Amino acid sequence: MSWILSVFVLFLVFRWCITGESSPEVTDDGGAPMVKAEREALYSTIQGFVGVSWNGSDLYPDPCGWTPIQGVSCDLYDDLWYVTELTLGLVHENSLPCTTSLKIKPELFELKHLKSLTFFNCFTSPTTISKDDWRNLGSNLESLEFRSNPGLISELPETIGSLTKLKSLVVLENGFNGKLPTNICGLTRLKRLVLAGNLFTGTIPDCFNGFKDLLILDLSRNSFSGILPLSIGEMVSLLKLDVSNNHLEGKLPQELGFLKNLTLLDLRNNKISGGLSQNVDKIRSLTDLVLSDNPMGSSDHDGMMEIKWENMGNLVNLDLSKMGLRGDIPYGLTKLKKLRFLGLNDNDLTGLVPSKEFETLPSLGALYINGNNLTGELGFSRKFYEKMGTRFKASKNPNLCMLESQQNVGLKPCKGNLVIEQRWSNVKKEESSSSMGVMVTRHVLSNGFMWDLLLELSFIVLLLQ
Ligand SMILES: *[C@@H]1O[C@H](CO)[C@@H](O)[C@H](O)[C@H]1NC(C)=O
Ligand SMILES: *[C@@H]1O[C@H](CO)[C@@H](O)[C@H](O)[C@H]1NC(C)=O
Ligand SMILES: *[C@@H]1O[C@H](CO)[C@@H](O)[C@H](O)[C@H]1NC(C)=O
Repeated sequence: MSWILSVFVLFLVFRWCITGESSPEVTDDGGAPMVKAEREALYSTIQGFVGVSWNGSDLYPDPCGWTPIQGVSCDLYDDLWYVTELTLGLVHENSLPCTTSLKIKPELFELKHLKSLTFFNCFTSPTTISKDDWRNLGSNLESLEFRSNPGLISELPETIGSLTKLKSLVVLENGFNGKLPTNICGLTRLKRLVLAGNLFTGTIPDCFNGFKDLLILDLSRNSFSGILPLSIGEMVSLLKLDVSNNHLEGKLPQELGFLKNLTLLDLRNNKISGGLSQNVDKIRSLTDLVLSDNPMGSSDHDGMMEIKWENMGNLVNLDLSKMGLRGDIPYGLTKLKKLRFLGLNDNDLTGLVPSKEFETLPSLGALYINGNNLTGELGFSRKFYEKMGTRFKASKNPNLCMLESQQNVGLKPCKGNLVIEQRWSNVKKEESSSSMGVMVTRHVLSNGFMWDLLLELSFIVLLLQ
């Protein structure tokens, strides 16, 4: 930027030498040329946010030149400086903090060359953003961000829908509430739409048909209800879809399968049921799939277990906890070579744990199978438990035991083995199958653990073969 400035100053000097005049509306106090009205609008805007004691013309006589203001950037249009970026609030230590009694001055909307406008940690006391004026910024504004403003407790002004040049709309962690304005559907140039961490309610509008450039859609941590709209499947460029922590229900749309470039799908903590859409395993690009805390496995027809997990070889993080999943641990999961995190905890999974297969997954660094009804003995090596530490949990599986006692795993050792061997030799001596049955029953009664019976039975069956 500074070389542009130097060239421009040279040019000005040159022009002044030739004509001996300068435009009256342009400042000529030795700084860069800037229309006076633009400069005054900037001062007034900032003063509205930081307080009346702030005197811009005094402190920053040349805001686009040699006295830059933190949070303000400028660009040249027709040889004049205009403000193109404005960030209000405490971003850096030396930023101007917003006062609690701030005012949005109408002069803000005179800064018509603004491409980027950000409010960070600025609105702390209750404020309503008016509907008016936003249209004035429509011809240039590409990025609008409200981040961490607990004082913004109104609905999102519908006039934001007239900012049709927007490529990025970030409304993150404020107090915005009510329904989304439907004209948000007109912002079809968006690449990023983040509305996370507000109090939005109502359904997600079914109008994503036009959003062909959208890469990131984050509606998480609100109170959206209803179903995930079908038009979600038309956002063909989408990389990340996060609707976690809402009240969404119903089935996942089949159309999700059209999102061929999706890498993250986070639906955690909703009320989505009816299983995983048969198409989701066709999204080969997925690296993060988080479905936890949805009643997706609670019906027998959901087909959660029929998914060809082995097809989703790019998965790194897979969270299927708290979903009411039934049946065996799907074998396809043991084929996911890139998997680092696998959460299967707090379901109704039964059957044996494919310990050896899991242990051979090269990247696995966290495995949670606790809170199920898995059976048999865990066959992981001591090395595996040491590597995983607290990132392995298998407790609360009443019928599961392990060969070696590991304090942090919370399972009983399969101590039945020794006993079985001893008894087995007794049985052999007696050469009688009926006495074997009696012996097993007695052992169970004296011990009280169901898993001992199961273990002994399977052990004996093995030996008899
Ligand atoms: C800012 O300071 C200048 C003198 O440096 C003064 O003329 C002007 O009135 C002040 N403006 C405000 C808004 O206080
Ligand atoms: C999907 O990603 C590939 C590779 O990055 C890219 O070439 C393609 O254009 C993307 N598809 C869409 C619809 O954006
Ligand atoms: C756990 O599974 C066993 C069979 O292996 C079954 O008898 C028992 O009822 C199950 N427990 C629960 C809580 O589902």
